[in-house]
Amino acid sequence: MPLFSLFHLIFPIIFLPSLCSAADPYVFYDFRLSYITASPLGVPQQVIAVNEQFPGPPINATTNYNVVVNVWNDLDENLLLTWSGIQMRRNSWQDGVLGTNCPIPPKWNWTYQFQVKDQIGSFYYFPSLNFQRASGGFGPIVINNREIIPIPFPEPDGEISIMIGDWYTRNHKALRADLDAGKELGIPDGVLINGKGPYQYNTTLVPAGIQYETIQVHPGKTYRVRVHNVGISTSLNFRIQSHYMLLAETEGHYTVMQNFTDFDIHVGQSYSFLVTMDQNASTDYYIVASARFVNESLWQKVTGVAILHYSNSKGPATGPLPDPPNDFYDKERSMNQARSVRQNVSASGARPNPQGSFHYGQINVTRTYLLKSEPLVTINKTARATFNGISFVPPKTPIRLADQHKVKGAYKLDFPDRPLNRTPKADISIINATYKGFIEVIFQNNDSIIHSIHMDGYSFFVVGMGYGDWSEDKRGSYNKWDAITRCTTQVYPGAWTAVLISLDNVGSWNLRAENLDRWYLGQETYLRIINPEENGKTEMAAPSNVLYCGALQSLQKEQHHKSNNAKSIFKGHSKLFIALLMALLNLVSIFS
Ligand SMILES: *[C@@H]1O[C@H](CO)[C@@H](O)[C@H](O)[C@H]1NC(C)=O
Ligand SMILES: *[C@@H]1O[C@H](CO)[C@@H](O)[C@H](O)[C@H]1NC(C)=O
Ligand SMILES: *[C@@H]1O[C@H](CO)[C@@H](O)[C@H](O)[C@H]1NC(C)=O
Ligand SMILES: *[C@@H]1O[C@H](CO)[C@@H](O)[C@H](O)[C@H]1NC(C)=O
Ligand SMILES: *[C@@H]1O[C@H](CO)[C@@H](O)[C@H](O)[C@H]1NC(C)=O
Ligand SMILES: *[C@@H]1O[C@H](CO)[C@@H](O)[C@H](O)[C@H]1NC(C)=O
Ligand SMILES: *[C@@H]1O[C@H](CO)[C@@H](O)[C@H](O)[C@H]1NC(C)=O
Ligand SMILES: *[C@@H]1O[C@H](CO)[C@@H](O)[C@H](O)[C@H]1NC(C)=O
Ligand SMILES: *[C@@H]1O[C@H](CO)[C@@H](O)[C@H](O)[C@H]1NC(C)=O
Ligand SMILES: *[C@@H]1O[C@H](CO)[C@@H](O)[C@H](O)[C@H]1NC(C)=O
Ligand SMILES: *[C@@H]1O[C@H](CO)[C@@H](O)[C@H](O)[C@H]1NC(C)=O
Repeated sequence: MPLFSLFHLIFPIIFLPSLCSAADPYVFYDFRLSYITASPLGVPQQVIAVNEQFPGPPINATTNYNVVVNVWNDLDENLLLTWSGIQMRRNSWQDGVLGTNCPIPPKWNWTYQFQVKDQIGSFYYFPSLNFQRASGGFGPIVINNREIIPIPFPEPDGEISIMIGDWYTRNHKALRADLDAGKELGIPDGVLINGKGPYQYNTTLVPAGIQYETIQVHPGKTYRVRVHNVGISTSLNFRIQSHYMLLAETEGHYTVMQNFTDFDIHVGQSYSFLVTMDQNASTDYYIVASARFVNESLWQKVTGVAILHYSNSKGPATGPLPDPPNDFYDKERSMNQARSVRQNVSASGARPNPQGSFHYGQINVTRTYLLKSEPLVTINKTARATFNGISFVPPKTPIRLADQHKVKGAYKLDFPDRPLNRTPKADISIINATYKGFIEVIFQNNDSIIHSIHMDGYSFFVVGMGYGDWSEDKRGSYNKWDAITRCTTQVYPGAWTAVLISLDNVGSWNLRAENLDRWYLGQETYLRIINPEENGKTEMAAPSNVLYCGALQSLQKEQHHKSNNAKSIFKGHSKLFIALLMALLNLVSIFS
């Protein structure tokens, strides 16, 4: 046996028993989240960095790798990182949202351990609490194909990750305060590309001195460009001047390849494009991410502009940006583009073919859920967002942890599967979903803005979307053959999107509006999916470092840190501990 695999076999047995598959390799990361001052739009502001970087460093793994991330919370408030699109099979313990994890208190660290089982593709991580994503803390996740499984296109010459998103010069706390006060956030101050502001393509619209992103490429080469919309709420049109973008993958599934000159990327969505540097190098080219479905004249400044720089480029990019789609009055263009994204059912992904040829269209639906969102409502004098008239209140004790410790009343399993004609309310109400069920979920958007809906722990088949109210006869229009499988779908205002989900992953899984404001105001719930014959094998056990909170707070041990800041040594609820500590410090100072 070669030394390498021997190491990988022995190591996990010693250090990480039972959590992950021992035979698969490990990658380790230390992520320290802290505030830095940055001026992406020319105004100094507080930004959340990961290891001093904004955006954070990439996680690079391969199918079935075990990923270990020790997360250090150097912020002044609770933290959880979530791994958008990572399915955490049988292991919602690592998902990093309030329904699955107790938060990591300030100055604590907590180690996530999960396997990227049977996955490939482009994803990202971000902080899930307290509106923090609006200040940063995000970064890309790349899961490569295993070497034995070829990708369905020639190996690209290079990889480029691009994080785009709307941005405010107010930090997440100020934005949060606005929402708490029932205010709208207003028009964003700009769009960032990889944490940087726009290139000064127009001196009226962009002030001088802003640092912009430059993507360096070589002529004739083809790059895999992975683009993620990590913003708050703005749908963005992404385009690269004079270059075709060949769509190849979205959120873990290879698509039928098609060329686009521009593409709509909604909040929380990830796409891979193959881009060939086949233009002359007489100048650099613009990379643009501009706001969609808005009044262009009011939102002109909300445009991200980066530079594509050929190594033999003869000069800077000049002139106007490539045109955005001119479809203010054509509601169908964007939806048609979305419908055209289809799965390449013959491509191998994490497993060799025929993993793609799952005949989802022939499976009988076991239950239908219609989740309707309305414009903001007032509950108890505050503005709240809802699904089916329920504005979610996160549980104080995570759902599965409460189950295992028999905590009563931690949540209610009464989430309605249809909108009910009743007064909206705030509640800890979740969906009692049936393990191995095959469900149809229709998202009906009666809000005035586009919604991105995301589900953790799963990919779903996006089988249809259309304007107006959904009705049963719309099923005739579903794509039953090559619908794309993904984890984040848009739902246009005044329209519906239908998805099919095979409930094969046990745990409690967050279903939410990825629009950060709507999510913050309660537009989310969970699906609790448990094998009734649970014998300790369908679901993983809670990790040995599991954090306790809520009704189980007393089980939590304090965390001690070597630190020169006495305040940072532990979580800080026990006055006794502080007293002891002060006494100890006094002693130390007496003897030194
Ligand atoms: C990602 O990891 C693989 C090995 O697992 C390596 O071949 C590749 O170069 C890495 N990519 C980046 C961008 O670091
Ligand atoms: C915190 O970090 C230390 C040092 O790396 C590590 O040994 C410990 O397991 C971490 N704590 C948790 C709860 O993951
Ligand atoms: C689908 O994948 C197959 C197998 O890898 C590949 O040969 C083919 O080009 C892909 N088709 C399209 C339309 O992208
Ligand atoms: C810059 O933008 C302003 C406002 O849209 C426009 O009036 C002006 O023509 C633009 N300047 C150039 C050089 O394109
Ligand atoms: C996409 O456009 C490129 C030109 O940049 C062309 O070579 C290629 O054949 C096109 N591919 C498809 C699938 O249309
Ligand atoms: C180079 O390409 C640009 C954009 O495609 C085109 O406008 C320009 O005329 C080309 N210049 C030369 C010298 O071919
Ligand atoms: C866009 O906003 C401008 C300025 O407020 C307004 O005059 C114009 O009518 C708006 N256009 C549309 C299409 O709503
Ligand atoms: C689906 O339901 C139909 C009618 O109820 C039934 O005839 C058929 O056998 C079912 N198909 C599967 C795959 O269970
Ligand atoms: C309204 O808010 C108050 C104060 O936060 C709380 O005590 C009360 O239970 C709430 N009422 C409802 C109906 O949610
Ligand atoms: C949840 O659903 C299961 C069937 O899947 C049922 O047996 C159970 O009673 C339900 N629980 C509640 C609280 O509704
Ligand atoms: C929301 O529903 C109301 C009442 O049915 C309707 O008048 C309105 O047009 C709908 N708005 C959207 C955006 O769907």
